[in-house]
Amino acid sequence: MSPDFQPIVPAAASFSADGTLYSPQFDDVYASSQGTLAQAQHVFLNGNDLLERWNKSGSFTIVETGFGAGLNFLATWRALRNAAADSRLHFVSVEKHPFHGRDLERIHERHPELREMSAQLRERYPPLLPGFHRLHFDGGRVTLTLLFGDAALMLHQLQARADAFFLDGFAPSKNPQMWSKEVFAELARLARPDATLATYTVAAAVCHGLTEAGFEVGKRAGFANKREMLCGRFRGAAADAPLRNERRAIVIGAGLAGTACAQRLAERGWSVQLIERHRAPAQEGSGNPAGLVRPVFSLDWNTHSRFTSAAFLYASRHQAALEEAGMGPIHGEGGVLQLARDANHFDKQQRIIEQFSLSADLVKVVQTREAAELAGVPVAGPACWFPQAVWANPASMCRSNLDGSGGLVSCLYGHDVALLRRTDGRWEVLDGAGEELASGPVVVLANANMAIRFSQAAWLPLRPVRGQISLMRQQPGRNLRIAVCREGYVTPAIDGAHCIGASFNEEMAEPKMRTEDQMANLQRLEAMLPGFGEGITSEMLGGRVAFRGMSFDRLPVLGALPGEGQDGLFTCLALGSRGMTWAALAAEIVASRITGEPMPVEGSLLNALDPVRFLKKKR
Ligand SMILES: Cc1cc2nc3c(=O)[nH]c(=O)nc-3n(C[C@H](O)[C@H](O)[C@H](O)COP(=O)(O)OP(=O)(O)OC[C@H]3O[C@@H](n4cnc5c(N)ncnc54)[C@H](O)[C@@H]3O)c2cc1C
Ligand SMILES: C[S@@+](CC[C@H](N)C(=O)[O-])C[C@H]1O[C@@H](n2cnc3c(N)ncnc32)[C@H](O)[C@@H]1O
Repeated sequence: MSPDFQPIVPAAASFSADGTLYSPQFDDVYASSQGTLAQAQHVFLNGNDLLERWNKSGSFTIVETGFGAGLNFLATWRALRNAAADSRLHFVSVEKHPFHGRDLERIHERHPELREMSAQLRERYPPLLPGFHRLHFDGGRVTLTLLFGDAALMLHQLQARADAFFLDGFAPSKNPQMWSKEVFAELARLARPDATLATYTVAAAVCHGLTEAGFEVGKRAGFANKREMLCGRFRGAAADAPLRNERRAIVIGAGLAGTACAQRLAERGWSVQLIERHRAPAQEGSGNPAGLVRPVFSLDWNTHSRFTSAAFLYASRHQAALEEAGMGPIHGEGGVLQLARDANHFDKQQRIIEQFSLSADLVKVVQTREAAELAGVPVAGPACWFPQAVWANPASMCRSNLDGSGGLVSCLYGHDVALLRRTDGRWEVLDGAGEELASGPVVVLANANMAIRFSQAAWLPLRPVRGQISLMRQQPGRNLRIAVCREGYVTPAIDGAHCIGASFNEEMAEPKMRTEDQMANLQRLEAMLPGFGEGITSEMLGGRVAFRGMSFDRLPVLGALPGEGQDGLFTCLALGSRGMTWAALAAEIVASRITGEPMPVEGSLLNALDPVRFLKKKR
């Protein structure tokens, strides 16, 4: 396992005699005993002159060291709301020992003025898994990116441009790792020109370290009984993110990838032209009646499982936000059972849960009897139960994305894009007859395998992988309650039929249904739910064929296409067998890249997903 992503050791909530939140591990208090929120206001908000500054910018980014109980974050969010500022706030905070959500409730109880915001934070608060977690509030106006892990390691993984820093580790004498040369170097790397910082400490080592890293520091009056505090401004050489003045994008393809990209851009106030060759969204890979949205964990926390688990958590929050706005997709309840393949696999599943202390609301091991009770029918063996995982209808996920775009997405259906041409710094999108369908500064290719038809993307190693699902009419007395998976999957009856999937036919272009695949799906079913398909033959099944867009390393292809004269051309491709789980986070990555906002996942993951990886491998 990479040393950057060690299992998280949570903080224990303790209070000192005067009721101040206290860390027995560091033997220090989390904030001044004379008022946590007043301290946040004085030291961090006023110390960075935030109220005057954030109205002047479209998007303002704060990077904090030490999320703790999130009180600085809540105070900042409240101040932004009260100031009725127009800007969008990105608050990025690193924390090695996060509290459990239940502890946050106990801590925040002491601040009744934050009740409503605290409830929202706790509702979205992630399980304590190492790495990045992105949460949105107030319709996307406020974004919190939590980096769970050690400050130096996690900040090194952050791609962002910060306007201000809140330096809030414990006292330098008790918590030197938070004030190290490595941490200061990362802050300098992240600083925009003239980025400011504020902290409660004026320890000589901190002043010296920050100065060495390129910050000009000075003292101001401290909070309450502290005579002084430190403020600073970055004076070193800083690269600023390129700003796109025209907030308009063209997205090609209206499957899960394209509709999710359109939605994530629209939430940022971008206008999107979505072009689809069919007369409706979700007619190809995203057109199956159902699939599973579920996480994957691994003992070595490898790239695939890291991305899939982060994407699953993000997708759950994304769907919840759409649902809250009355636009949620069609999905099931009761979780998903992943049956163990054999005793070894079951043992491995248990070790993963133990190693990462995965909580029961995320995943729970269940023996065969309990699994059968959850499923409502006999199952083949013990399993992992993911209570928050769901079966869902992908086409309704696409529609939810479009409905949740606040009217900023206009859809052009029935137009097949044949050519992309760059003229005078703008992209022209043309059909086969040479007619211009749209033009603009930014184009996102979200058209799965068909992207390689464009010369700009022809070099991407993408391939179609055929998949056939079977539909089995619900049988009397066989009442499957939740989705079950193993090598394949089966859903409860949806509109009277169970969806059973799926074949994985490489190098096969056959668009029609094949009997062999129907039979193989029945075998998958029998291996999961013995007897459930008794009396059913392949001729009695319906089904559907679709093609997955896969890259050769089976990871998505997300980011800017490299090459001279290709500025503004992005990809959200190769969602493979996991697009329902991956699409929302994949789109958030692409939207963040386009807008130059802080990235929602670690740099090492971004590198593993970037189109450039294929060129590097070739070299
Ligand atoms: C059998 C099967 C089972 C699956 N099961 C699951 C599952 O259980 N869980 C899960 O998470 N994922 C699952 N997936 C994966 C998921 O469905 C896909 O990853 C996802 O649908 C891909 O979405 P997409 O938007 O990238 O591609 P698509 O949905 O294929 O969308 C691409 C769109 O681009 C359009 N287009 C292409 N070229 C052009 C052009 N030149 N001009 C205009 N429009 C164009 C196409 O018409 C199409 O609508 C499954 C996939 C299959 C095939
Ligand atoms: C003073 S508290 C932060 C209080 C917080 N800003 C708030 O508003 O509640 C300092 C935090 O730094 C965290 N911390 C200590 N060492 C760390 C490290 N090496 N990396 C990341 N976080 C660390 C602690 O766990 C603690 O939560």
